[in-house]
Amino acid sequence: MKEVTQILTHKIFDIVHACSKELNIECYVVGGYVRDYFLQRESKDIDIVVIGNGISFAKKAAEKIGIPEKSIAIFKNYGTAMFHYQGMDVEFVGARKESYVSHSRNPIVEEGSLKDDQNRRDFTINAMAVSLSEKDYGALLDPFKGLDDLQNKIIRTPLNPDITFSDDPLRMMRAIRFSTQLNFSIETNTLASIKSQSERISIVSKERIVEEINKILLSRKPSNGLILMEVTNLLEKTLPWVSALQGVDIVNGNAHKDNFYHSLEVLDKINEHSNNLWLCWAALLHDIGKPKTKRYVDDVGWTFHQHELVGAKMIPKIFRELKLPLNEKMEYVKKLVYLHLRPIALIEDTVTDSAVRRLLFDAGDDIDDLMLLCEADVTSKNPQKVRRLLRNFEIVRLKLNEIEEKDRIRNFQPPISGELIMKTFSIQPSKEVGMIKNAIREAILDGIIPNEYQAAYQLMLSEAQKLGLTPIQ
Ligand code: CTP
Repeated sequence: MKEVTQILTHKIFDIVHACSKELNIECYVVGGYVRDYFLQRESKDIDIVVIGNGISFAKKAAEKIGIPEKSIAIFKNYGTAMFHYQGMDVEFVGARKESYVSHSRNPIVEEGSLKDDQNRRDFTINAMAVSLSEKDYGALLDPFKGLDDLQNKIIRTPLNPDITFSDDPLRMMRAIRFSTQLNFSIETNTLASIKSQSERISIVSKERIVEEINKILLSRKPSNGLILMEVTNLLEKTLPWVSALQGVDIVNGNAHKDNFYHSLEVLDKINEHSNNLWLCWAALLHDIGKPKTKRYVDDVGWTFHQHELVGAKMIPKIFRELKLPLNEKMEYVKKLVYLHLRPIALIEDTVTDSAVRRLLFDAGDDIDDLMLLCEADVTSKNPQKVRRLLRNFEIVRLKLNEIEEKDRIRNFQPPISGELIMKTFSIQPSKEVGMIKNAIREAILDGIIPNEYQAAYQLMLSEAQKLGLTPIQ
């Protein structure tokens, strides 16, 4: 049997070992911690399986360390207890015989052996255990050859995949997520089983599904995961709007590009430059309005008129359905989807100062992310065209910097406030106050006056005069 005592460097293992000896109860470190050790990845949690009662074992270990009982999180229904110790969440669970139950409403917790517990785990690479018991401390217990799968970069279920996935259908998403994060392939039977059971994803909560999608989006090459979701039919069931981007129509020999693969290319490019999850969502969803706006116009070809507007309007509904946060993150994605054509439109015309100012005003602090998205959106296979567009983007970037330095539009604060207008003309909040403020903002954005107090004050006076208002002395 392989010995891997070098895994057991964290202080908790000595404590658990001592408890195991005292109580004469076998226990093991299992799952993600063992896998991550072999992958040389850092773990945030340690899972300990106890052949007996996990909760009383956790209490004993906590007592030894001096952790008060109130700091132990106990989940009686699941037979688990958890505390934080030296930078790690340490979770204790009694070995169970039944299928994986941690998310079902009525868990059946029946005591079992280590092998029973390993049987009901998701993948062979997550089912390895290392003994913390006196008799074989440090022994690797790997009944499904998880270490070989780790070395051969394979995701495979320990049991028949139909059983493993039916126990918890989220595991279908987990298989794809691990495959994308680790760049592993999914074993043929395991993949076939996902495809045949994909329907069952509907019983899993949106929150758990989205957690996996988020991890896919933040992987080095998220397109791998989304393509696997597509081939297993999970895409259609979890992200129908993205699935609808697929396909190419041809009219009179004119084809448009496949917007699904285009979006994946944009997403992969974004990931090379940023690990902002919300920018990844914006990349994935930037063309989401295209299926609804697709038209073939004679003499023109394929058009997706106003797809940015239609797409931006879809974002709140998508976020609501996916149980993503309905806060400033959603507003950010919506804004980037809405603005994603603006920089390219700028470079197709001549780059006027006022167009740049308006873009800065609309994008605000998200201008750099918007520029990244727009550059990533260039997926043409014509190298000359790509070179030309990217060179033009450089010009826009220079112009953006130049104008921002001069006019400070990015975090635009009106140089004249509504209060000042009301005080100057002794008026109440009214339509006129809004009209004067608008006129000042428009004049600044058009470059008619500089973004400065004195110039704005003069304009306020002349605009007020047009409205028949006179300043009080
Ligand atoms: N597990 C499982 N089925 C699930 C979730 C988890 O069998 N649906 C098991 C696996 O053995 C896994 C362990 O529980 O290794 C811990 O799960 P979790 O903490 O969710 O994931 P990790 O494997 O640690 O990976 P990550 O932290 O990347 O999510």
